[in-house]
Order: sequence, then C-alpha cells, then structure tokens
Amino acid sequence: MNKIVLVLFLSVCTFLNAQKFEGLANTPPMGWNSWNTFATDINEDLVKGIADKFVELGLKDAGYEYIVLDDGWMTKERDPNGNLVADPEKFPSGMKALVDYVHSKGLKFGLYNCAGNKTCAGYPGSRGHQYQDARLYASWGVDFLKYDWCDTSELNAQESYFTMRDALYKAGRPVLFSICEWGDNKPWEWAKDVGHMWRITGDIINCWDCEVGHGSWSSSGIWKIIEMRKNEKTRQVAGPGHWNDYDMMEVGNGMTAAEDRSHFAMWSILNSPLMMGNDVRSMSKETLNTLTNSEVIDVNKDGLGIPGFRFSNEDNIEIWVKPMENEGWAIAFINKNDTVAQIDFDWGKHPIGDDVSQQFMQVENNTFTIRDLFGHKNIGTTKKSLKASIGVHDVLMITLSKK
Ligand code: GLA
Repeated sequence: MNKIVLVLFLSVCTFLNAQKFEGLANTPPMGWNSWNTFATDINEDLVKGIADKFVELGLKDAGYEYIVLDDGWMTKERDPNGNLVADPEKFPSGMKALVDYVHSKGLKFGLYNCAGNKTCAGYPGSRGHQYQDARLYASWGVDFLKYDWCDTSELNAQESYFTMRDALYKAGRPVLFSICEWGDNKPWEWAKDVGHMWRITGDIINCWDCEVGHGSWSSSGIWKIIEMRKNEKTRQVAGPGHWNDYDMMEVGNGMTAAEDRSHFAMWSILNSPLMMGNDVRSMSKETLNTLTNSEVIDVNKDGLGIPGFRFSNEDNIEIWVKPMENEGWAIAFINKNDTVAQIDFDWGKHPIGDDVSQQFMQVENNTFTIRDLFGHKNIGTTKKSLKASIGVHDVLMITLSKK
C-alpha cells in the first residue's frame, strides 16, 4: 500500500516538474529562419545583417521577434566533453557574442537541433545529450529551439519531444519549443503541452502548387502544404500557446507578388507562425509591404486564436473564413485561376458560421463593415453583395466588424 502511495506521489512530482514554459506564444510566433534561403551557408555577419534590417525596415515594429539559425551552425563533432561547438569559421566571435548582439537589438535568438543522432544535414543531433545541450543553450541565452526529426529510427516521437521539453525546462531559461517532426506522428494529438508550435507537414518550397521530389522525400508548394492535413483535427487543437506550423514562409522567394500576398494571407488566417524565410536584407519594397501589412498580421494575432477554415471552393475561387474577436470575421477570397476573376458575393445567400467556435454571422440581424486589408480601406457593408475583381493567384482579404 505504502509503495503504491509512494509511486503515485513520485508520478505526481514528475508530472508537476515537467512542463513547457507558458506565456511564450499567446499569439503565433513571428520571426525569421535561415533555412529556406541559406541552408547551411550561414555565418555571424548574415545574422547581424538580418538583425540590423529587422530594426531598420520596421520588421521588429511589425512584430517579428525571433531570429533563428537552422541546421549547419555547429562543427561536425562534439568537443571532448560532449558539448556542441559553434562552427568557428562561420561564427568566429562565438555563439554567445552573437546572441548578445541580437538581444542588444531588442530581438530574440533561436537555434536548431534534432532529436536523432544526426541533424538532417549531418551535424551532431541531441540524442543522449538533451540535458547537456539545453544547459548550453541557456548559457548562451537562446530563446527558441527548433527540434527536428532526422536519424531517429526506433525513437518514439512523443518521448523524444517530452525529454527535450523537460531538459529545456530544467535548464531554467524560457525557450520557445518548436516541434518539427513533419506531422508524421500527429503532434496535434499530443504536443499541446510539449511545444509552442508543431510542423504539420514536410518541407515547403517556393512555388504555388508544385511538388519537388528529392528521392525518399519531397517538398511541397503553398497549396500542397495547405491541403496536406485537411482531414485531420489540426484546427480544433491549435490556440493560444500552441500552434500548427505550416513551415517557414516563402514570401519574397520567387513567386509572383500576388502569390506572395495569398501565401501571407493564408498563413495569417490559418494562425500559422509567421517565420520569414527570405533574405530580408535585399527584399523588394513590395515584399516588405506584404510582410509588414499590419492589418493582415492583426488577423494572425486575433485574441480568439481560432484558425480559419475553407468555407467553399467554387470556380477555383477559395473562400477561407476565420472567426475573430467581438463577433467579427476575417475572410480571404483567393483566385486560383489563371485569369482575373470577378466575384459577386451575396452575404444573405451564403450563411457564414463556424461549428468549432459556435460563432454565426447571422447577416439578416447584423450589419458588418467590410475592410480590405491589402487595399487598406473600408469597402462597404454586408447590406450589399461584395463585388470585386481579383487578379491571377491574388487574394481579396477582408475583415467584417459589427458596426
Ligand atoms: C528538415 C526540416 C527543415 C530544415 C532542415 C534542416 O528538413 O524540416 O525545416 O530544418 O531539416 O536540415
């Protein structure tokens, strides 16, 4: 009997001890990650340049906060004590000095590692070193850890991510924990109390709707990524503190300006983290305008934190709807045709409502003001049909707010 009580007591203690840091992602995290553009070709000048531009270009003011170094920041071997070593050729001043630089700009700093023996690019993974690595990150002042899933044969995903979460917690420095196992183990079913965001798909690539094979795996364009988990319960689970991660953005990486706008609108309406993946030091004015559109970002940051859903897809015009605070709505009309489309949307004929949030528009009893988030102007009310012309692969993104 006493033994059972003791075991129960110890389990409760372990449970109470093991948690993630709360309050770090009340809205989807925003920042920049090196992988999409630079892969392992990273160094301290790049990071400093990006941090400078965050401030100079108003990205910081727009809400972008984390600068994350992805794979390739370490040497190929640990040191004799088993510690990870920042590659001295890429980071001659050392990681601590670089983190201090990023912090001095009022920004936060993130690193990448992997649950397996090796990272996806073949650098030392954290398997067997989780607590040691977590202490090292804390000593450098790291604020964010992206934790990947390569070289993990026979490992159990839940256990691996729980272990790293506990190691970070034990190290004592609040770290936003970004789970990256590509949705293979359905993290939306178990990761809510483990990480702050979890990838739901394999890697993104900079195209509208393509798929590019790499032998045993493939990367996916924007719409392939959006479609991939459509039959899963991802939407019901995400919310303040824990988000579905649709991967780092490809805005500014070669798609048309219209496609970039649609991509950004979708990441916002889906409540994905907004992690830029382009070279922000050399981006065009148009890309900057898209990425810093505060009205679109506000949709992503809406206090309800309920991801949007596909309302309809007729004539290749996708309509996505997201319930918002104060009984408002955000709606994206996306033209997937290769020709300009005219829309004529009669609010009375398309009753908008959401079973998950139990929010219903009831347009017959309410009038909403319509605001065009890329045009930055009010464009009427729901008393009249919404008529608009939408360019090829472009988006009309609006909010509806009660008068
Ligand atoms: C995996 C991840 C990517 C990136 C690379 C780095 O493919 O999904 O986002 O981190 O590894 O090697």
